[in-house]
Amino acid sequence: MADTYILGIESSCDETAAAVVRSGEKLVSNVVFSQIAAHQPYGGVVPELASREHLKAIVPVVRKALADAGQCYQSLDALAVTQGPGLAGALLVGISYAKALAFALDKPLIAVNHLEGHIHAVLLEERQNENREIKFPVLALVVSGGHTHLYLAEQRDVSWSYKNIGHTRDDAAGEGFDKVAKLLALGYPGGPIIDKLSTYGDPTAVKFPAAQLKHRDRNDKGNVESGVRFDFSYSGIKTSVLRYVEVHSLQASIDARRKALAAIEKPSLENYLAHCDSKTLNLVASFQRAIVEDLIAKTLAAARACDVATLFVTGGVAANNELRQRFEGAAAMEGLPVYFPSRPLSTDNAAMIAAAAYPKFLAGQFAKEDFSAEASMKL
Ligand code: KG4
Ligand code: ZN
Repeated sequence: MADTYILGIESSCDETAAAVVRSGEKLVSNVVFSQIAAHQPYGGVVPELASREHLKAIVPVVRKALADAGQCYQSLDALAVTQGPGLAGALLVGISYAKALAFALDKPLIAVNHLEGHIHAVLLEERQNENREIKFPVLALVVSGGHTHLYLAEQRDVSWSYKNIGHTRDDAAGEGFDKVAKLLALGYPGGPIIDKLSTYGDPTAVKFPAAQLKHRDRNDKGNVESGVRFDFSYSGIKTSVLRYVEVHSLQASIDARRKALAAIEKPSLENYLAHCDSKTLNLVASFQRAIVEDLIAKTLAAARACDVATLFVTGGVAANNELRQRFEGAAAMEGLPVYFPSRPLSTDNAAMIAAAAYPKFLAGQFAKEDFSAEASMKL
């Protein structure tokens, strides 16, 4: 079959991204414009600011993705865009632009669920590594700033289907990293800096109580038949960190760190280390260890219960070094292969959107002209 070139566009949160993927298996270009600098002063993503930043970035980002791919608009076979979940205003920028472009070029447009995109980031990675031997059933942990989900993924002919068997009841794991970093004056986003600082602390120094899920999920009311679930909860651990800060009188040193780091334009790891005492480093390392262990324990429990053959771990938190190392060790003990996307494909990008669109292109599943953003879109 002739090669198929799909241009993917992603604007669900704070990254404006465009990429060209050939036949769902070869990354031809991948451009990600991060808005982190714009949101950093606020310690989190400001939705209106995100929409405005997407508006500024979308045209140059798409043009660069095409130029890097050596393609022109006419040589594309289709366009793909994230429909949801995400920030409504942010999603609308990508959708409106993709619709206009598809209409002007008379090319088909494919709407993609962002979470399905994260799963296809793993498949794209493995196809690029010439691994075509993925065994089913697959259990995918999608763990990012907005989501912590477990899906059983299946492929029939060209179509993929997903069954959600677990999700977070409150905060997503990445949200936990971001909130704890904010609390400790470690900047935004929290994951990358906590990842680096954790190697300097003792991960066994602070004991956090395991997350307790006492109630059935309210969203599952009327759906008692949904079977065994493997849900997560990460708001309790954030409260435990706050309590630790109070009990150990860390607030003064947090305020001093905030002031010192605010005076540095782009603080380096050395700058952070110079302003973190051993108590803080131990706290950060213990927090990360607790999250990592919980994610692995729940995923492996689900893998055993569902007798899966392969694990995927994807989303921004899948970039975490300790998570990768410990997951590989734990999965190997169970005799399960575990696949991660490369780090650039773990966090938000448009290559995963173009890759997820390819099976839909083959199946002729194109977007209706009047489709719109779905902020709480389910997978
Ligand atoms: O997938 P993503 O880019 O956006 C969402 O779909 O949410 O994920 C962003 C999240 C943020 O919460 C960020 O702190 C977290 O991923 N993250 C990490 C790491 N890199 C990014 N968390 C832990 N360790 C990392 N190295
Ligand atoms: Zn994401």
